[in-house]
Amino acid sequence: MYNFDECPDRVRERARKWDRKIIEKNFGKVPEGFIPMWIADMDFKMPPELEQALRAAIGRGALGYTYCYDEFYEAVMRWQGDRHGATVEKEWITLSYGTVSTLHYVIQAFCGPEDCVLMNTPVYEPFDSAARRQGVKRIYNSLQLREGRYTINFTALKAQLEQYKPQLYLFCSPHNPSGRIWSFEEMKTVARLCREHDTILVADEVHGEHIHQGKFHSALMLKEAHSNLILLTSPNKGFNLGGLKTSYSIIPDEKLRTRLRQKLEQNSVTSPNVFGIIGLIAAYDRCRPWLDEAAAYIRENYELFASYIAAKIPQLQVMEMEASYLAWVDIRRTGLSSGEVTRVLASRAGALVENGAHFVRDGEGYIRVNLGTQRDNVLAVLKKMEEVLNQPPGR
Ligand SMILES: Cc1ncc(COP(=O)(O)O)c(C=O)c1O
Repeated sequence: MYNFDECPDRVRERARKWDRKIIEKNFGKVPEGFIPMWIADMDFKMPPELEQALRAAIGRGALGYTYCYDEFYEAVMRWQGDRHGATVEKEWITLSYGTVSTLHYVIQAFCGPEDCVLMNTPVYEPFDSAARRQGVKRIYNSLQLREGRYTINFTALKAQLEQYKPQLYLFCSPHNPSGRIWSFEEMKTVARLCREHDTILVADEVHGEHIHQGKFHSALMLKEAHSNLILLTSPNKGFNLGGLKTSYSIIPDEKLRTRLRQKLEQNSVTSPNVFGIIGLIAAYDRCRPWLDEAAAYIRENYELFASYIAAKIPQLQVMEMEASYLAWVDIRRTGLSSGEVTRVLASRAGALVENGAHFVRDGEGYIRVNLGTQRDNVLAVLKKMEEVLNQPPGR
């Protein structure tokens, strides 16, 4: 029903992903006709139902200050209930200005200069910089590869919780960069360990909307986690609304909630962006068919990507992408570093992918390829990768 083969004018939109100035700052000079598959931002035209809602707001003729009216809470409660099976009370929900900003506020609210936070690596870089910017120490728990999938080393995790007593465990679920969905058993162990060690579980669930394989379990489904859970999410990954800078937290425990709210108020993070709240409500209430079709399209992109690589670029290995639209690719058999592969693809072929080494730690030897784009782009990048990576060294 929706046309995902159509790419909006992303250059005129001034999308960071497509802006030559920003690209060249990150990758050096790139040829004409480059294809950006780096920043986690999708190239699909927004759902028409969302466009209608935003146009209607403009049509009303004014853009004054607004507030979190009931429809916002109702849309979140319905979404979390219908989509993820979680019963959420209105009082648990707090608006904020993006999941990444909220991570910063959470760390400010709960960590003093002597405290530390724990995270699995590799991981989305802002987990690390959010803590670093507050002068908070970071403890890294390396994910382990088992039969090509990441697993959590619970023995090491328990030891780290005991030794360092981190205030927060920043937990990416589903996981960026690998697209791994944590099983219910894993989630339960995470929640139990956090509870036993008095560590707050901060679950970032922004990648929970495109599920390709298996079942996504929101941390909210674990009642036993509710006393020490801060859940952060937004429609920004699922519906590509990052530019609206609107997100929310769900915190069942009143004490934790009050502490974060005080921090948000201290920084005047209170009333929503007028388009942000309208976009969130429209996405959750009216754009579910678009989301499901987008996920199916992405899944086909992934299948094309994985099968092409297996057949024609066998020195690469693609990890199973269970959620989201980011393929995590093992490049170790090329004999090149992640930086070298990223640079050579960018400079020779204009294929722009993320350097795995940018994912805090343990990402060297990988690249991340954004498949939230038109099928033609996926195919064109595959051909470029094949050409560049199959060239004899030195050419
Ligand atoms: C794990 C993770 N959290 C948060 C974000 C950004 O979310 P928001 O747009 O709500 O700040 C991203 C974006 O790539 C992400 O990968």
